[in-house]
Amino acid sequence: MTDQDLDLRRSEVYLQQYHPVPIQGDFVGKHIVTVDQFERADLQTLFDAAVSLRRRMRQQDRGLQEICAGKLMATLFYEASTRTDMSFQAAMRRLGGEVIAASNGVQFSSVYKGENLADTVRAAGCYADAIILRHPHVGSSYHAAYYLDQLHAKIERKATVISAGDGIGEHPTQALLDLFTIVDLKGDVKNLHLGGLTITMVGDLRHGRTVHSLAKLIARSGTENVHLCFVSPSSLRMPPKVLDLLRQQSISVYETGNLNEVLRDTDVIYWTRVQEERFATSDDYDEVKDGFIMTSAVMQQAKADTILMHPLPRKHEMGSAMEHDLLDKDSRAVYFQQMENGMIIRMALLAKVLRGMYV
Ligand code: NCD
Repeated sequence: MTDQDLDLRRSEVYLQQYHPVPIQGDFVGKHIVTVDQFERADLQTLFDAAVSLRRRMRQQDRGLQEICAGKLMATLFYEASTRTDMSFQAAMRRLGGEVIAASNGVQFSSVYKGENLADTVRAAGCYADAIILRHPHVGSSYHAAYYLDQLHAKIERKATVISAGDGIGEHPTQALLDLFTIVDLKGDVKNLHLGGLTITMVGDLRHGRTVHSLAKLIARSGTENVHLCFVSPSSLRMPPKVLDLLRQQSISVYETGNLNEVLRDTDVIYWTRVQEERFATSDDYDEVKDGFIMTSAVMQQAKADTILMHPLPRKHEMGSAMEHDLLDKDSRAVYFQQMENGMIIRMALLAKVLRGMYV
């Protein structure tokens, strides 16, 4: 068994055996590994902080620099990232904190020599207060959380892991920024309200961790009367575990392979990339990659006030680069606002986890 296989096995074990601590009004020092830790009140607390931080940032309030002054954040990205990585770094710096990373990326750290996840994470935990972890194995952030708790018994400081995506599992902070964007633009951000909205997620719902976390977080937001539509090829449907959870919460769910059935009734379109890196063979990917392509012609069928979201990066699921330009001109395309919200919500989360303060 290779070092990687062993790490994979151990992440599977910790996914079952490590129990993340619910936020329940207190974010300080908590590992953030799943949206299941959040209740409606916690979301409202975080969104209130995000609104306040956004206002202060736009006013160029220098007081922001004091919020995380003296705190250090380490980034450990075992998978590619642009937005999640840079927005966490920007968030920490805007709050006056500092950021460290392996000089040439995690692949050229001792990971190259075969060091396991538990040891690399604890190395980061010896130096930093928060560790942002993206890793291909489902459960890797639970695995990290377990070992950081062990480390706490050896050193006096407590380091906190925040998941930046674990394989095809979850992407909790993306879901936080996505839900914030939806309530900010289509609901009521001061009173977490999504009621009456139809939210349609399209594309690779099987491997897309952003849609797993977002669907679960919508259920946890406690909003009544929200409708979820899942549009995908039959081989890329939302995992049964997520569907069961939604049904338990009495969320109305409609699955289809035909976007036209739901497009005209949709208020929020959440488009996703087919996750090429998760397929066993390139033939498997080629078979489904062109299933759903969003273009300005498709957007013409949507309502005048529907918003179009995408976690990005985008490829051909939004057509050619020329098509991207056309779509971007549509005021209903909000993925740039969504991206900026990524930094703002991560500022709110870092402030709450590292300082717990009212912002
Ligand atoms: C997503 C991810 O990494 O899961 N991107 C992101 O974090 N903004 C979506 C994707 O890669 O398709």
